[in-house]
Amino acid sequence: MNLKKLIIEALTDQQLMYGDKLYQQVNYTVQEQPEPIIEEAVVTNNLFGLTNEREDKIVQTGNYSEDWQSATTVAELNESINGCQKCPLGKTRNKFVFGTGNPDADVMLVGEGPGADEDAQGEPFVGRAGKLLTDILAAINFKREDVFIANIVKCRPPGNRNPNPDEIKECIPFLKKQIELVKPKMILCLGLVAANSLLGKKLSLTKMRGNFFVMDGVKVLVTYHPAALLRNPNWKRGCWEDVQLFRKYYDENVVSNNG
Ligand code: URA
Repeated sequence: MNLKKLIIEALTDQQLMYGDKLYQQVNYTVQEQPEPIIEEAVVTNNLFGLTNEREDKIVQTGNYSEDWQSATTVAELNESINGCQKCPLGKTRNKFVFGTGNPDADVMLVGEGPGADEDAQGEPFVGRAGKLLTDILAAINFKREDVFIANIVKCRPPGNRNPNPDEIKECIPFLKKQIELVKPKMILCLGLVAANSLLGKKLSLTKMRGNFFVMDGVKVLVTYHPAALLRNPNWKRGCWEDVQLFRKYYDENVVSNNG
């Protein structure tokens, strides 16, 4: 095994995930924080003795049924898991981000997890990275509403950190059930975390790109996460090659079988 090659791949993946800033010197300045002002009225009106902000965070809506595996439609599945509290992300989320799109789609897209915009709106890929994703889809003649878009984890990891292995372990059965119900023919996996989590691998993005994996009969292609493309536009060319390959396979194998 070529150690130098492995190190280069690992560093490329770190750069993919965190951008060039990882390699730049960061100058931190510590800003003086004003003393918090505690309003008497807020505390006395609050049954739990918590500040308003904390109270907002623990008020969650939605349902959770242990019987979610028996859901027979995507909508039913959403109804039975959108109040999930199986991992700590349930406490800090604003909205559960189930996924959106065509419940009978031939194509599914899988991202990592909601960011701030998605957490606020309850929909995947609606922020800057989401707009880029919509453009990428349009460039290969897919409309957002024709595909189904979901994430590995359904609740936002605070501060946009990567979801941790325990959170992924709790949440990924929901994604597997979504795949079972949507029955896509092809999946485009966005970024290293999504790819390794979905495929159950520990490979570099460099190793995974360019070849289709087969997961329960579904063809899975891995490409860059759109947020990584925003940080590193040089990777757009590679992504373009990936999505063209994806579209070609779709035209040659999915469209012709549907028609
Ligand atoms: N990044 C993701 O991986 N998923 C989203 O829904 C938004 C940003």
